[in-house]
Amino acid sequence: MTISDSTVAIIGIGNIGSRLAAEFAAGGQDFLLAGRDADAALKVAASAGGHAEVVSVDEAVRRADVLVIAVWLDDFKQLIAQYGEQLIGKVIVDPSNPIGPDGAGGFRKTIGEQESSGQILAGLLPAGARMVKAFGTLSAPSLKAAARQEPERAVLFYAADDDAAGDLVADLIQSAGFDPVRVGGLDQSIRIEMLGDLHEVGALGRVVTRADALKAI
Ligand SMILES: NC(=O)c1ccc[n+]([C@@H]2O[C@H](COP(=O)([O-])OP(=O)(O)OC[C@H]3O[C@@H](n4cnc5c(N)ncnc54)[C@H](OP(=O)(O)O)[C@@H]3O)[C@@H](O)[C@H]2O)c1
Repeated sequence: MTISDSTVAIIGIGNIGSRLAAEFAAGGQDFLLAGRDADAALKVAASAGGHAEVVSVDEAVRRADVLVIAVWLDDFKQLIAQYGEQLIGKVIVDPSNPIGPDGAGGFRKTIGEQESSGQILAGLLPAGARMVKAFGTLSAPSLKAAARQEPERAVLFYAADDDAAGDLVADLIQSAGFDPVRVGGLDQSIRIEMLGDLHEVGALGRVVTRADALKAI
């Protein structure tokens, strides 16, 4: 299966979901778009040049082969609990960063220092759901600024245990206007989550192209 014969869905139309919708559309990628507020989803879809089809979350889960779940960690856990075995066989894309306000204008991790939301979520998914950690390494404004960057594309890192699922998401990263670089399996998720060593808000600290990305890995 390639990305062109897969049905892709974005669930969640907040900052990152709506940004990804815009970048997928700019890359000519068709997708289902699902939020809790259908009117808000229709507004996001209106600027997607006919590439987005607004559906309910139930319908997105039923129809999509690749589900980009653009919600916060706790909501993601709830969606896994709600849809459970319906996720088997699907590629589940996790852009989440386990952070929250620190009360002093900054951020703090909302899980243990050595924990990653990617691994927590992977542990909650039913066997047979194929998770890929991706689209969380740049902020929404940086995604907007760096998409389809010339002369060299900006990198988006991803992590996957399942090679075929990783390849599909790499294609999706390209559709969004970025150069996909795999960091390894899901046990590397923490590196590409916020405050991780390969994150824009972490030791790497910036948008990179392939040569710098490979040095950093
Ligand atoms: N913002 C960024 O720059 C950025 C970049 C990379 C990664 N991330 C990560 O992406 C995740 C989302 O961040 P965000 O900034 O996009 O948050 P956000 O703007 O608050 O959006 C979250 C969205 O999730 C929706 N949602 C929650 N539960 C849902 C459900 N059961 N079904 C459908 N939609 C649901 C919310 O809908 P309602 O409005 O109905 O509550 C809201 O639209 C976080 O883990 C964040 O760390 C964010």
